[in-house]
Amino acid sequence: MILVEEKNKTREIIKEWKSKGYSIGFIPTMGYLHRGHLSLMEKARRENDKLVVSIFVNPIQFGPNEDYDKYPRDMAGDIEMCKSVNVDLIFAPSVSDMYKTSNQVYVDVEKLGDVLCGAKREGHFRGVCTVVAKLFNIISPDKAYFGEKDYQQLVIIKKMVDDLDFDLEIIPCAIVREEDGLAISSRNSYLSREERKAALILAESLSRARQAMIGGERDVSIIKNIITNELSQEPLAVIDYVELVDAIELRPVARVSERILVAVAVFIGKTRLIDNFIFEA
Ligand code: PAJ
Repeated sequence: MILVEEKNKTREIIKEWKSKGYSIGFIPTMGYLHRGHLSLMEKARRENDKLVVSIFVNPIQFGPNEDYDKYPRDMAGDIEMCKSVNVDLIFAPSVSDMYKTSNQVYVDVEKLGDVLCGAKREGHFRGVCTVVAKLFNIISPDKAYFGEKDYQQLVIIKKMVDDLDFDLEIIPCAIVREEDGLAISSRNSYLSREERKAALILAESLSRARQAMIGGERDVSIIKNIITNELSQEPLAVIDYVELVDAIELRPVARVSERILVAVAVFIGKTRLIDNFIFEA
């Protein structure tokens, strides 16, 4: 496994691999790797000759009052985890190597970026798309892997690839959860013991909604109420949003039909957590 910090060195290695006809799988991450990232890495390992993981806490996708400065970092642990699945190359650039001080070009998304987390985190998806576009240009992967944990991000990246004609395939990967149901996230490390318990309310409220939908409930306002009521049982939880949208265009729906994304964002103390599920009617 090679650890490379410079873009140009990475490009050289990739060029050599390409000249030998190797296929390249790529997983962009912000590090502090966990079993969620690992599941993407294992899938990518099986499907490609060479496996590249990037570790870069991308400043431009964080808002001014968000957690960029305290985002958890553990390069030594990340290296061990990458070794355990035979990653070929870790690309871990510095901020100054990724962004020139005079960076002026950004990748923006229109409608898909204006809803859900996009409505709550201004500029977030612009930052995500810009860095992912840059990473795609540096790594030139054949396949890139994204988790359904960040479902809106996955949909937006697919759209970016389509609209800007990137020559690669986006592979969606299922949400990995802790045994008790909490969706695994690097941000779970912010939670105190009490908050960790309280955070279960996200998965529990979604599970209630899913049961109602399996039971035939199709009225979106009733399903939203089920989730909101459940969340409000938890004193430490403050709702950021509860939404049901169609899973392709992310547009609001009044009744459940076809493929629906049920998504929540909830503050547990100061920590903002997200979770979701897809329901096929
Ligand atoms: P990060 O939060 O590190 O996540 C990297 C990838 O791992 C994303 O595709 C995310 O959806 C996936 N992932 C995280 N937790 C998961 C879980 N519990 N189950 C399944 N997949 C999971 O997402 C980002 O970084 C950044 O926005 C990035 C795309 C790297 C751009 O900076």
